[in-house]
Amino acid sequence: MEIKNICCIGAGYVGGPTMSVIADRCPDIYVNVVDKNEERINLWNDKNLENLPIYEPGLDKIISRCRGKNLFFSTDIIKNISEADAIFISVNTPTKKRGLGAGQASDLKWVEACAREVAKYAKGYTIVIEKSTLPVKTAEVIKTILEASKSETEDTKSTFDVLSNPEFLAEGSAIKDLEEPDRVLIGGENKNAIYALTNVYKKWVPEEKILHTNIWSSELAKLTANAFLAQRISSINSIGAICEATGADVREVARAIGSDNRIGSKFLDSGPGFGGSCFKKDILNLVYLSNYFGLKEVGDFWEGVVKLNNWHQHRISKLIIKKLFGTVSGKKIHILGFAFKANTNDTRESSAINICKDLLEEGAILYIHDPKVNSLQISNDLGKSENLQLKSLTLHDDFNFEGEWVFSENLNDGFINADAVVVLTEWAEYSNINWIERAKSMRPPAWVFDARSIINPKEIKNANLNFWRIGDGAAM
Ligand code: NAD
Ligand code: UGA
Repeated sequence: MEIKNICCIGAGYVGGPTMSVIADRCPDIYVNVVDKNEERINLWNDKNLENLPIYEPGLDKIISRCRGKNLFFSTDIIKNISEADAIFISVNTPTKKRGLGAGQASDLKWVEACAREVAKYAKGYTIVIEKSTLPVKTAEVIKTILEASKSETEDTKSTFDVLSNPEFLAEGSAIKDLEEPDRVLIGGENKNAIYALTNVYKKWVPEEKILHTNIWSSELAKLTANAFLAQRISSINSIGAICEATGADVREVARAIGSDNRIGSKFLDSGPGFGGSCFKKDILNLVYLSNYFGLKEVGDFWEGVVKLNNWHQHRISKLIIKKLFGTVSGKKIHILGFAFKANTNDTRESSAINICKDLLEEGAILYIHDPKVNSLQISNDLGKSENLQLKSLTLHDDFNFEGEWVFSENLNDGFINADAVVVLTEWAEYSNINWIERAKSMRPPAWVFDARSIINPKEIKNANLNFWRIGDGAAM
């Protein structure tokens, strides 16, 4: 069979870019991305490409090439399901907030809702593809729902195959990751369905990079990939803390171990802790599965990666407070970066959230800058609105504003009277700050805390500022 009409349910960080690249590389396939969130769909259809609901380098160019030709964004879920011969489920699968498995298991209510909609409205033979990251054995749930409906609506003769095709893109480099993936993973039982999907990817991915596995291996490989990546970050951050205690330098240690081919050099950048919507959720899911299958030691092992990450984030805020004479009450701190990494407007699980909350709790006054995250998003994340009065104030220990924050539109304004600057996201523009100029407006003895290793220590020294950077024992 040949896939000619795709419907993707979920127009988020995965559905939007993934389907855009498929449409771009397969001009003969109609790609319809649907979402129940009308506001999001309207933004995907906005004429002004600056208003796309997610920021990803290169995405706007693809949208301008394909939208309206073979790529469509719509809220008409029923129509698009009924016309599709392949349906990607790309909806959110956050950690359950209540009930059995709360705090660890994935909440599959949106995936289940999709399966029921597909069961109801699909016509003829349809390949249903899990694109969301799911616990092992979810395909069984989807199949059961689809099978049940088949018998209900026998006259329509709808039949299904379920495939697992997890997504490995990273935000900020999504388009490159999709255009030149390390591998594409397709798990399933029916060879014809597997080859139909393989033929879509073959339009731009070399065949040897398209891996076929059984469906459970595919589901588990996705969780495992994220767990291994996150584990490397917790590992290097744990070593960074030892570096600070001993006079070693985590960058030097990372280079030394990364030169070993067996270890490799990627994902060894010590930072403020991993953020993003998936690492924590996917590891906790693995912990839940391990415990469910009676493998407590396995669950404890992986849970350690998340515990270390939480500890590390709070370690950074405590360290800032300690350096600023044990108190940040009424002190002005300029926060550089709120997104969980550079080149994205996504703040989900960003380390900046915990670090800023800790500092606000201690009475600091925060001026928060980010080139792509807006103030409303930051308000939602911090659970606290910005105080616009701070924009017009020249602060000096203004205790009336303890624990308040404001969005810093202009990068340079946030330095005025600041006691400290904290770099939390590795945006390129933060590497080009003129520290000698900025130091003139800060309140001495001012500090620069670089949690991303993007600032040149010599420039800080020349500007007569105090400096701390992650994992640098010599600078302690
Ligand atoms: P997201 O929250 O950005 O988007 C999900 C979208 O699905 C939302 O717009 C929501 O309105 C929509 N939706 C939910 N239920 C629906 C329904 N029944 N009908 C129609 N629309 C519905 O999520 P995301 O970041 O795109 O992640 C989606 C999945 O992909 C998750 O399982 C995630 O773990 C996985 N994943 C994410 C990334 C990433 O970088 N964000 C990378 C790889 C895999
Ligand atoms: C991650 C994976 O890299 C993707 O393969 C996966 O598809 C995706 O999760 C997912 O399933 O959602 P993403 O979270 O978008 O992608 O971004 P990463 O580049 O992995 O960064 C995650 C976090 O780790 C960020 O906060 C980043 O700053 C941090 N990080 C990354 C480090 O602290 N050090 C590093 O060396 C690398």
